[in-house]
Amino acid sequence: MFRDPLFYKAILTEVLPVLATYPLIRIWHAGCSTGEEVYSTAILLKEAGLLHKSILYATDINAEVVNKAASGIFPIKYMRQHSLNYQKAGGREEFSRYYIAGYDHALFDKELSERMVFSTHNLVSEGSFNQFQLIFCRNVLIYFERDLQSRVISLFDESLDQLGYLALGSKKTLKLSQVASKFRQLGKESIWRKVQ
Ligand SMILES: C[S@@+](CC[C@H](N)C(=O)[O-])C[C@H]1O[C@@H](n2cnc3c(N)ncnc32)[C@H](O)[C@@H]1O
Repeated sequence: MFRDPLFYKAILTEVLPVLATYPLIRIWHAGCSTGEEVYSTAILLKEAGLLHKSILYATDINAEVVNKAASGIFPIKYMRQHSLNYQKAGGREEFSRYYIAGYDHALFDKELSERMVFSTHNLVSEGSFNQFQLIFCRNVLIYFERDLQSRVISLFDESLDQLGYLALGSKKTLKLSQVASKFRQLGKESIWRKVQ
């Protein structure tokens, strides 16, 4: 969790204060895999006092990983690393307050998952299903060839509200895409704001 802590810190300090002004915050984790990213975001929202008015949609093409993400169960052996990342990302609590430790797993607080909606969704063949203020798609587009990448980026453009944010993995840029002129990059992280 909180992989690339400075990325999460930028979400915390630059994006959440803007989203705080909305009555309802809709976030999409596209290609969520086993859910580490969506739980990280829920923790940041909780600490910013925004979780109660947020809905986090978490989708992946693979039903098995979606079910794992929905279970809120993660291997205990990674908790120390998750905790270090969380502190670097600006976390304010003891990370262990968010889960109950079992023998080899950690069960995360239901309060976090209550605001999550899990579903399968294929980014290549399915369309938009809502309008969002923030879309995460990290470490997914790298597996697609260029035409597919640009199709998926157009899908995100359609699915984002005006002034919404698109958070891509560190290796991804919008600079060469067809929609580049509509987006402005925030700082050094690959977080883009739809300005047109
Ligand atoms: C490396 S994981 C990234 C997980 C997460 N975003 C992160 O950064 O930790 C890539 C995920 O993309 C999903 N994926 C691949 N092709 C997809 C598609 N066409 N539609 C939706 N998800 C897809 C895979 O199933 C996998 O779970």
